[in-house]
Amino acid sequence: MVDVILKANSEQGLINRNIYGHFSEHLGRCIYEGLWVGKDSPIPNTEGIRNDVLTALQKLNIPVLRWPGGCFADEYHWKDGVGPLSERARMINTNWGGVEENNHFGTHEFLRLCELLGTEPYISGNVGSGTVHEMQQWVEYITFDGESPMANWRKENGREQPWKLTYFGVGNENWGCGGNMRAEYYADEYRRYATYVRNYSDNQIYKIACGPNEDNYHWTEVLMREAGQHMNGLSLHYYTLPTGVWQDKGESTGFDDQAWFQTLKRTLHMEELIVKHSEIMDKYDPDCKVGLIIDEWGTWYNVEPGTNPGFLYQQNTMRDALVAGINLNLFNRYNKRVQMANLAQIVNVLQALVLTEGERMLLTPTYHVFDMYQVHMDAQRLELNYESPGYTLGEDTIPQLSLSASRSKDRVIHVTACNLSHTDELEVVCQLEAVESSSVSGRILHHADFGAFNTFEDPSRVEPVEWKGVTLANQELRFVLPPASVGVIAVQG
Ligand code: AHR
Repeated sequence: MVDVILKANSEQGLINRNIYGHFSEHLGRCIYEGLWVGKDSPIPNTEGIRNDVLTALQKLNIPVLRWPGGCFADEYHWKDGVGPLSERARMINTNWGGVEENNHFGTHEFLRLCELLGTEPYISGNVGSGTVHEMQQWVEYITFDGESPMANWRKENGREQPWKLTYFGVGNENWGCGGNMRAEYYADEYRRYATYVRNYSDNQIYKIACGPNEDNYHWTEVLMREAGQHMNGLSLHYYTLPTGVWQDKGESTGFDDQAWFQTLKRTLHMEELIVKHSEIMDKYDPDCKVGLIIDEWGTWYNVEPGTNPGFLYQQNTMRDALVAGINLNLFNRYNKRVQMANLAQIVNVLQALVLTEGERMLLTPTYHVFDMYQVHMDAQRLELNYESPGYTLGEDTIPQLSLSASRSKDRVIHVTACNLSHTDELEVVCQLEAVESSSVSGRILHHADFGAFNTFEDPSRVEPVEWKGVTLANQELRFVLPPASVGVIAVQG
């Protein structure tokens, strides 16, 4: 059993809704097939965007969606993706499988998708192989309200009014696929490119600089020192690989308890990365004006057997649900510095929310975690005091419990909880200080098999259910987390 104290009057600041953001790249079957099937497809669609996926994603109230990459962004030339489809230039997607990219999904289509989802767009610009002028013109094309060469071209292409665009990334992974730059060189490039990412009309851009990979603290130091004054956000990328080795990352299904344990242990490493990068940011930005934007995170396994290695298609099990739950609890906890996070990726790629096969679609365990956790968006984080019991496998021990709590605008307290142990249930007794509550309810995502996943034949094998046995009496909340589970509890004030 573990004792927890939840201080309901200890407001720890708002959890930025953008922590629940997503990422869509021109990679494998994420855009084409996953989101976009085209207007003439037999798959039911709205202006080319498939309806089943759209409906599923609408339910998550996705706050922000990143596009067009990823590595793809630094080879993407946006002008190839506007105008009549038949006239759009074709290119080879050299990063991802060497397949042809016909540019049928471009700026207009992406921004329409965002409108249909009710989500804010986050566009990544091309620093690696693009020009300053090209980047400047893209922002002008999207946001300028009036007569200008780019605004007029937008109108000719069918969009009279400008779009609102807040989030703009100045390059992606410029330490790697985005140009193999040194931090010192990129910091100067960032300053130059970012100068011309202008606020047209009344549109205000939040500029995001390419940040470090994993524990590259030197990158953060240099960027904050040389360019911190010119940015609103600095990105961080960290993926969870079960083995920690890129050449053989581990399988997405059929794993053993060691792989389970190691995956969760590597997920918990995210906390050290947030803390250490934040310490550097604090030095240059003590008022926390620059957000830490974790715009790529999630599991990365060996691809599914028989699929294109460049398409990064993988299954998604209860283990992914735990990875999502743990990471989201961490992002909530560091809500002062973490202002956005984008799971990689939204459909059919890496730790996807949704998988498709032809006209069929399934929701992954990760989808259900995002559904359960959406109650934290824009809520006040509440302080939790507890000491987690250890979860031991062999000689190694990690915490068994991951928790997060917040109070929504309508004063409902939500607690999200993960039990990392694949064998032991965990009873939690939570004292709710300063809460006059009347009722409690919960939902739990759990399966007797920790490797369980949904298939196109059996899409409802892993689904959240009502969490029976959650009780509330005399300001004491009690619940039992089954092994390998993620739960959410609502306490009505
Ligand atoms: O998400 C897949 C790839 O991972 C992205 O394109 C890149 O930014 C990262 O290396």
